[in-house]
Amino acid sequence: MKLKPLSRRKLLFLTAAIPVLGAANRLSFADELVRRTVTPRQTEGPFYPRRKPSDVDNDLAVFGNSEDLAVGDLLTLKGRVIDRQGNAISGARVELWHCDHLGQYHHVDAEGPSDTNFQGYGELTTNEAGSYNFRTVKPGKYPGRARHIHFKVIAAGRSPLTSQMYFDDETDSNMRDGIYKRLSVKERTAVTIEIRSGAQGENTLEGLLDIVLA
Ligand SMILES: [Fe+2]
Repeated sequence: MKLKPLSRRKLLFLTAAIPVLGAANRLSFADELVRRTVTPRQTEGPFYPRRKPSDVDNDLAVFGNSEDLAVGDLLTLKGRVIDRQGNAISGARVELWHCDHLGQYHHVDAEGPSDTNFQGYGELTTNEAGSYNFRTVKPGKYPGRARHIHFKVIAAGRSPLTSQMYFDDETDSNMRDGIYKRLSVKERTAVTIEIRSGAQGENTLEGLLDIVLA
């Protein structure tokens, strides 16, 4: 079959499209480069509250109307819930739970002494900027695990994420933790809180971690 020669008009149209296609490819390549690592899923563990406490606000360092603080280094934990391009995800529910300084979860099945001033579980909804902000205490340790904080994020139109956070000043202990070790290097970074000390005086810590949803 003999091909029809291209008209001058059609040729002009096709060549004009070439730089446009090139730019589009470069854009998607650059876009891929800045994409964040999605926060990996990790086990929920047995201590997600079957019954939520009477106080579930974002301040786990006090329980109810108590005037006494929970024992431990006060930790302000904050960051943003974002997508892979860094766009804020507002209106997402962030749930947080971890053990007290004694290594005790505040769960109906837990046995043994616990810090009654510690709230054990808290939740909030991200604001317009996708930000979250909890006050708590640095969790204690219990056998077989590095210090960690459990969390769950529920955002409209996305499947819920259940995962755990670790501390960047506990590298040796993290590397002995079976759940942490199972993650890739990028995934470990995505769940490791950047800890700064002394943000609000002695025995206070500030922790930063963005949560990235697929
Ligand atoms: Fe745990």
